[in-house]
Amino acid sequence: MHINVEELKRQAAEYAVAHFVTSGMVIGLGTGSTARYAVEAIARRLQTGQLRDIVGIPTSRATARTALRLGIPLGTLNDHPVVDVTIDGADEVDPDMNLIKGRGGALLWEKIVAAASRQEVIIVDETKRVARLGERAPLPVEVIPCGWRSTFAFLESLGAEPQLRVDPYDAGDAPYVTDEHHYILDCYFPNGIENPHELARTLKARPGVVEHGLFLNLATHVVIASTHGIEVLGETSQVF
Ligand code: A5P
Repeated sequence: MHINVEELKRQAAEYAVAHFVTSGMVIGLGTGSTARYAVEAIARRLQTGQLRDIVGIPTSRATARTALRLGIPLGTLNDHPVVDVTIDGADEVDPDMNLIKGRGGALLWEKIVAAASRQEVIIVDETKRVARLGERAPLPVEVIPCGWRSTFAFLESLGAEPQLRVDPYDAGDAPYVTDEHHYILDCYFPNGIENPHELARTLKARPGVVEHGLFLNLATHVVIASTHGIEVLGETSQVF
């Protein structure tokens, strides 16, 4: 059967906005093609008056631009240190609601906003489900440009096959540069990631590593859209 992935992304986003967002909230605005549907749904609800008095906290400069263009009032995490709910996408989701994020390059801000959020609602289509993290998607690791080749070698010593992410808009091979002016090393693990918690600790302890795309114990809910309907993992898992 043909799966219309874009339609599933849109359904997950619409569901999350309808069930988790209410007037008066501070809302973390995720990054990526799925989160963009949520940003658009929030903007529509503001225009029709179904939502009011909200403040959006963008997780990237790209999302900030989209939200401003759609008329969503924005604030900063410094003005609103506690976020009521964040709606964001993911590259992979395992059965324990642990995630890989960062394909869109925004993992650092995304993780800071997630950590400040009362509810972190992840929206995905069914193709993002995996038994083991790293089985399909690379793990993005955000690194300081200074000495990045040394960090690259360190990642290899952990069993990863890293690749320096390049800027898709550059004619040459210029590195992709994040919103905080770092590089990203996309780490492929041929057999997936055996122990994500241990890897997360090892990565954080290494000078030169700014952040990584393992989001462990951060998601409070995962909304999964499939051809069978919407499934919500979280406090009380449900199928709709
Ligand atoms: C952005 O940095 C990412 O974490 C995205 O949320 C993630 O890559 C999912 O993106 P898509 O919804 O475009 O697949």
